[in-house]
Parts: sequence; structure tokens; C-alpha cells
Amino acid sequence: MPEDTSPYYITTPIYYVNDSPHIGHAYTTLACDVMARYQRLHGRAVKFLTGTDEHGQKVEKSAKAVGKDPQSFTDEVSQRFRDLADFMQFSHDDFIRTTEGRHKKGAQAFWKRLEEKGYIYLDKYAGWYSVRDEAYYQESELIEGKAPTGADVEWVEEESYFFKLSAFEDKLLQFYDANPQFVFPTTRFNEVKSFVKDGLKDLSISRTTFNWGVPVPGNDKHVMYVWLDALTNYITALGYPDEETDDYQKFWVQQDGDKERKSSIETKDYEFKYGKAVHVVGKDILRFHAVYWPAFLMAADMPLPRKIVAHGWWTNEGEKISKSLGNVIDPIALVNEFGLDQTRYFMMRHVHFGSDGNYSRGAFINRINSDLANTIGNLAQRTLSMIQKNCDGKIPEDARLDSDKKILTYDAESKLSHLHDANYLDGDMGWKYSDTLSDLVGFARNANEYIDAKEPWRLKKEDPKAMADVLYTLVEEIRHIAILLQPFVPDSASKILDQLAVSKDERSFAHLLDRNCIIKPGTVLPKPAPVFPRLQEDESKGAA
Ligand code: MSP
Repeated sequence: MPEDTSPYYITTPIYYVNDSPHIGHAYTTLACDVMARYQRLHGRAVKFLTGTDEHGQKVEKSAKAVGKDPQSFTDEVSQRFRDLADFMQFSHDDFIRTTEGRHKKGAQAFWKRLEEKGYIYLDKYAGWYSVRDEAYYQESELIEGKAPTGADVEWVEEESYFFKLSAFEDKLLQFYDANPQFVFPTTRFNEVKSFVKDGLKDLSISRTTFNWGVPVPGNDKHVMYVWLDALTNYITALGYPDEETDDYQKFWVQQDGDKERKSSIETKDYEFKYGKAVHVVGKDILRFHAVYWPAFLMAADMPLPRKIVAHGWWTNEGEKISKSLGNVIDPIALVNEFGLDQTRYFMMRHVHFGSDGNYSRGAFINRINSDLANTIGNLAQRTLSMIQKNCDGKIPEDARLDSDKKILTYDAESKLSHLHDANYLDGDMGWKYSDTLSDLVGFARNANEYIDAKEPWRLKKEDPKAMADVLYTLVEEIRHIAILLQPFVPDSASKILDQLAVSKDERSFAHLLDRNCIIKPGTVLPKPAPVFPRLQEDESKGAA
């Protein structure tokens, strides 16, 4: 597997600060966090961006409802998102707020650029608007007087600037054709394509009836439409409008030697500039990212994102999550009750990324107990306890990998390339978080079966050399699994590696493959402690 160290840029949506963070927000950021950690373990320079979307009518209304001015309201709520990210120990490199000077400056520069290129004109908007969705709807899209999302709509008539979105119908379709992997998953990509094929109308991109937004350059009666403002966060966080910053060059623009380099994409009629960004979003906001954002960038003649990844939605015990139903899942409560890594594991394992998922307390507890406590945790604990008890806490001096180790799944290299070749996480067909975890648990299950078959406790008297080899083989197997588990359950994986006395700077995928980094016979191991305790069902909290 060739080493790849080219830069990797991954972003979460920026979250509206109208409300407290919930499981949906934590989920999107978690998916990015796992991918960011995975790419770093491959040796890539990663930029992982998250932040908050603070302008617009929805946020202004929420501030008013609690009697606060929008700035102090957004300061407060944005801080809650930052606190959640810290609490979840996400490894983001930057947190952008759209009320920051660096962002406003970039958003305005982007507007001017669209204007200079001739894609903005002034007219009048008369139509439906949903404040909850911050989206315009056609009359024909409404269902029983409401937005297709179920949100209320209101009639808006005001002077407005428009973006010539209609000019990009053909360009977008050619771009999609040339990039069959632009949107993950494919089913959602098909929805995007048919939306564009149905025809694009010019998009209203400014509002005049409130002023909580980025002023339109040259006409401050208008504020920028919150989605145009928000989407530019992906470049303003890299230093745009300065396109010479290291970050912009490294993470936005493709360079020679970049892994996913395609240079410009030639199609029948157009040439597109190809960028590097991977934007992870929920399925509800795919259209903004896969249609509007590339159209804005095409108009500005700037590199396009490399990929838009859309995930599904969580329900709670089968019900749609909503404040009015009072069934919002608080990620902080989950972590406090079950543990951080347990929560991360459940969210990544329970759902095939891209599909909808249902949280249920019972499923959570069963999953953690069967995969983490009974399989991976048990493997580590029984192996390490045997070493303590039978080998004085030391890897026996002359231990070798068991020649019969083939009954274990793979050696280190084939484990990693198995995940890699199956494009589990990497590559265009990737994003298979759940399958990856299922395979890692499978490796641990095989290792447990290997213990049962070899009965090292019996070998202790009969053939101590054979026992040493079996235990050594297991210790190596656990090292492999723990290294590969790091993106998902970083804290627990690190505890397992500590118990194997693996040095902190020998835990990357390159070290996994490096024969010099295998555990050395003679290594003294610390006393083992269980890493994944069994979760107990609490009767008062509902049935499992
Ligand atoms: N501010 C916009 C994004 C602008 S990006 C330039 C926005 N914010 S949001 O706070 O409403 O939603 C952010 C993300 O949370 C979306 O990706 C959305 O899909 C996700 N989720 C919100 N509720 C969710 C669930 N119940 N389940 C999974 N994710 C969901 O949209």
C-alpha cells in the first residue's frame, strides 16, 4: 500500500445557534472526527473544520424569543457548541463563527466576485419562505400549505438580489456526469441530479426585512441570504479572500502529488477546477451543498469541493426527534451514563453511514456489551491477565509468532489493506464505518476462538514454549486491533496500547506495518485493567 501524506480537508456543516446541540449535531461532527483521525494515522496533514452558523431570521427570532440581542445570544449558544466539541474530545483544527470578522470579510469578497463575474442582479422576490429551514420554496413544492419538510412557510415580497442559478443547470449536470462519485451515497446523488434536471430558477440571495446578517457590499439595506453567507465558511476559514495563504493552497486547491488529484475536469463543453474539500452533511442540507455551493464556485471560477457526503437522520425509539415531542437525545447525557467511547462506538457501528438510524437504549447496551465488553475487552483482559499470572507480567524472552497463527484472520499488513482495499473508509466508495468496526470485532472474535482452541492455561505445564508463543501471538493481534480502533474509540484504544507498553509514538498505520515495531519479547507489561466494562441495564430507564 503506497504511503500517502497529501493534505486532507474535511468539514462539518456549521450549526445554527438557535438551539442547544443534540445527537444529530454530535453525529455529523463525530463522523468527521473519525475520518480525520483515520487520515492522520495514515500520515496525512489534516484540516478538520467545524463551527457555527449565526446569522439569519431563525437565529434572530430565537434571540428575540428569549429577550436577548442577537450578538450576545449567539455568543452564548455558539459557546455551547464549542463546549460540546470539547466534551466529545473532537479533534477539529478550527472552529469558525460566521459573526467573526475573518468570515464576514471573506463572505463579502465572495459576493463581490460573483457580482464582478456578472452573476448577480437586483429584482423583486415574491414567494414562499421557511424560516425554520431558511429556504425558499416554490408553490408547487408545498404540501398542504407547508414546506416538504413540514416547516411553516410565509409569503415574502421584497426587493432582493438574485444569483443566476439557472445559468448553471447544464454545467452542473456535466460536472456530475464527469464525477460519478461526487455525492455519497449514490441514491442521494440521483435525487440531486433529478432536482437539477427538473430545472433551476434563479436564487434570491439577499433579504431586506431584518438585518441580522452580513451586509451586502455596496447596499446595506440588504443582508446576504444566510446560506450564501454560511457556505463560504469553508473557504473563509482557510483565509479567503487571500488565496495565497498556506491553508487555502494546501487544503482548497489541488496540487501536484495530491492523492485525489484530477487536475481540471474536462467535459464536453466546460472545464472545471477541481478542489480537495470533503463536506460531510445531513441529507436535509444536501441540495445546498451539491447544487448551490458548486454553482456559486463555478460562477466565481474557483475550485469545487471533491466530495459531498450525506448521512441519514437519527430517530429515538422509532420516533422522529423533536423538541415538541420532548425526545431529543442529549449526547452529553449518553456520554455521562455510558462513556465517551461507548457513545462514539454505538453511533458509528449501529447505522450504515448514509442510512437513517434509530437510537434505542436496549440496542445501545446490547451492542456495547457484545462487541466491546464481551469481545474486544474480554480478549485484552484474558490475554493480559494470563501474561501477568503465568509469565510474571513479561512477554516471554523467546516467544515467537505462532506458526499456526493463520487461524487468526490476517497479519498486520493484510488487515490494513483489507480495510483499505475494501475502500472501507478511504476512497470513493468508502464511508463504511460500520463494516470496518464489524470486521475489527470479527478479528477479536477469531482471536478469542483461538484462545479457546489452544487452551494456553493447559499448555502452561505441558508445553510452556507453546504457551508463550500463543500469548505472544495474541498480544500482537491485540496491538493490531487497537491501532486500527484508534479513530473510533481513541481513549480506550490508547489504554489498550498502554497496557501493551506500545510507545505513544509508534501507533500510526506505518508503525502497524513496520516489522521493527512489533512487540519485543522481554517487554514488561503494566498490570492490566478492564477497558470496556459491561453496561448494566437500569430498570428505571426503560427496557432493554
Ligand atoms: N446551518 C445549517 C448548515 C450550514 S452549512 C454551510 C444547518 N444547521 S443545523 O444546525 O440545522 O443542522 C446541522 C446538521 O445537523 C445537519 O447536517 C443535519 O442533518 C444534522 N442533524 C440535525 N438533526 C439530525 C438528526 N436527528 N439526525 C442526524 N443528523 C441531524 O443545517
